[in-house]
Amino acid sequence: MSARPSKRALVTGGAMGLGKALSANLAAQGWQVTIIDRDATKIVEKDQLHSIKCDLSDPVAVDRLIEELINQDPFDSVIHNAAVSATGRFETIPVQKYHQLMQLNVTTPMIISSRLAAAGRLNRGAHLVFLSSLSHFTGYPGAAVYSASKDAIAVYAKSIRKPFAKIGVTVSCVFPGPMKTQQAERHSPTNADAEKRMQPETAAALILKSVFANRKTILPGANAKAFAALGKVMPIVTDFAMRKIIYEKLDKDVY
Ligand SMILES: NC(=O)c1ccc[n+]([C@@H]2O[C@H](COP(=O)([O-])OP(=O)(O)OC[C@H]3O[C@@H](n4cnc5c(N)ncnc54)[C@H](OP(=O)(O)O)[C@@H]3O)[C@@H](O)[C@H]2O)c1
Repeated sequence: MSARPSKRALVTGGAMGLGKALSANLAAQGWQVTIIDRDATKIVEKDQLHSIKCDLSDPVAVDRLIEELINQDPFDSVIHNAAVSATGRFETIPVQKYHQLMQLNVTTPMIISSRLAAAGRLNRGAHLVFLSSLSHFTGYPGAAVYSASKDAIAVYAKSIRKPFAKIGVTVSCVFPGPMKTQQAERHSPTNADAEKRMQPETAAALILKSVFANRKTILPGANAKAFAALGKVMPIVTDFAMRKIIYEKLDKDVY
C-alpha cells in the first residue's frame, strides 16, 4: 500500500518571524512547505521545506511566481504572511513606499489567491489564511498606511469567504498583537519592552490550531482577544491607549 502523500502548504515571508515559525510547525506535522521570501538564502532547505525567491512587492516577479505555482500540485494551505510596515509621520513616507507596501500587503495576496483558485490549485478542504493585525480593532496611530493595508486585507478576506466556501476552501483572517519579531523590533519605540511580545512560535501554534478548527477570525492569545473586545466597545479609550503606549513614544520614522 502506498503512503498517503503529504499535504502541501505555501507560506509567504517564511524566512523570518511568524512565517518561519508557521513553516517549521507545519513541517513538523509532516506537511511539505513551500516558502516564498525575497531572500531565499535565509531559508534552511530541508526535506519538507522548499524555498522560492521572489520579491512579492514586484508585480512582474509575482506574475512569474504564479506561473510557477500553477504548474505544481495543488495546495492544502496558503498563508499570506509577508508584509512590511511603515511607522512615523505619514506625510513624510515616500510615495514609492506607499506603492510597495500596498502591493505586498494587499494586492499580491489577493492576486495569488484568485489566480490559484481560478487554476484549480487549491484542493477541496484547503485553508486560505490572511495576516491582518490587531490594529483592525484598535487603530494604530503612527502607522496609518500599514493599518490601512491590514484593514483592506481583512475586508477582502471577509468578502471572499462565500465564493471560496463554494469550492471547498475555508478563509481565515488572523489579527495578531505584538510578536517578538524583527518587524515589531524595527517599528516599536526604542525602549519598548520586547519581553511583553508573544513569541512567534507560540503565535504560530495558536494560529494553526484555529485555522484547522475552521475559525474565520483568529485572535492569537488572551491579550489580543481582550484588546479587540475593548476596541469594539470602547474605541475612544483604545485609541487613547494606543496613542499613549505607541504613538507618543515613537522616536523614529521607519519605512
Ligand atoms: N510582529 C508583529 O508584532 C505583528 C503584529 C501584527 C501583525 N503582524 C503581521 O504578521 C505577519 C508576519 O510579521 P513578522 O513580524 O513575522 O514580520 P517579519 O519579522 O518582518 O518577517 C516577514 C518576512 O517577510 C519577508 N518579506 C518582506 N518583504 C518581502 C517581499 N517584498 N517579498 C518577499 N518576502 C518579503 C521578510 O524578509 P526581510 O527580512 O528581507 O524583510 C521576512 O522574512 C505580517 O503580515 C505582519 O504585518 C505582525
